[in-house]
Amino acid sequence: MARRKIVAGNWKMNMTPSQAVELCNTLKDLVKSDDVDVVYCVPAIDIVPVVEAVKGTNVEVGAENMYFEEKGAYTGEISADMLLDAGVKYVIIGHSERRDYFKECDCLLNKKVKKALEKGLIPILCCGETLEQREMGVTMDWIRLQIKSDLADVTADQVKGMVIAYEPIWAIGTGKTATTEQAEEVCKGIRECIAEMYDTDTAEAVRIQYGGSVNAGNAAELFAQPDIDGGLVGGASLKADFGKIVNYK
Ligand code: G3P
Repeated sequence: MARRKIVAGNWKMNMTPSQAVELCNTLKDLVKSDDVDVVYCVPAIDIVPVVEAVKGTNVEVGAENMYFEEKGAYTGEISADMLLDAGVKYVIIGHSERRDYFKECDCLLNKKVKKALEKGLIPILCCGETLEQREMGVTMDWIRLQIKSDLADVTADQVKGMVIAYEPIWAIGTGKTATTEQAEEVCKGIRECIAEMYDTDTAEAVRIQYGGSVNAGNAAELFAQPDIDGGLVGGASLKADFGKIVNYK
């Protein structure tokens, strides 16, 4: 069965609530699509107005982060139940910016992935190598380690419904996209890793995105690769260009 493409915007720490609503209105007609799932992953404070703004459209809303505990004294954190109650469907987990700036380790990310799945949120689990790792030739070893740790104790059925985003750190926000071959090679490697950990059915079902300087000019070629099922888009998701990325064909 062919996997449905999924194109998600990661707005990062951009857009005030009123700007967020304005952007939703600008993109409304541009992101219409029958064959691609479209997601806006937005800052926590934008979730409620964005859910409202995209009502009745093909857009689903995602969060950029969540905490793994149920509730309680965790100042500043947001739980899975809060996200669900607000109308969120997806949650980005393990973006390299959170791994780096906020020191989120694989052990923590594994807890977040499991909690999201247990609650019925769809995790978009990010992985990716630094430039040094790529130059040292350890890209795939590193990514396999991330995937294996982050998915520890996650079942095959759960993995089938997940999204994994391959984002080479050196390509994020740099304007330097991985070549189509580099992106496909790693996405294929991730699928092989899932096949080893689980089985071929699971590997064939899980959706794998590429992220890192995706734009209206390179999306078509990247998304045409057999193991790339769409993109996780940063900068270009904040502009009308996002419509061209969604409608890349
Ligand atoms: O999660 C998306 C991302 O990190 C890529 O950002 O700005 O290079 O598209 P950008």
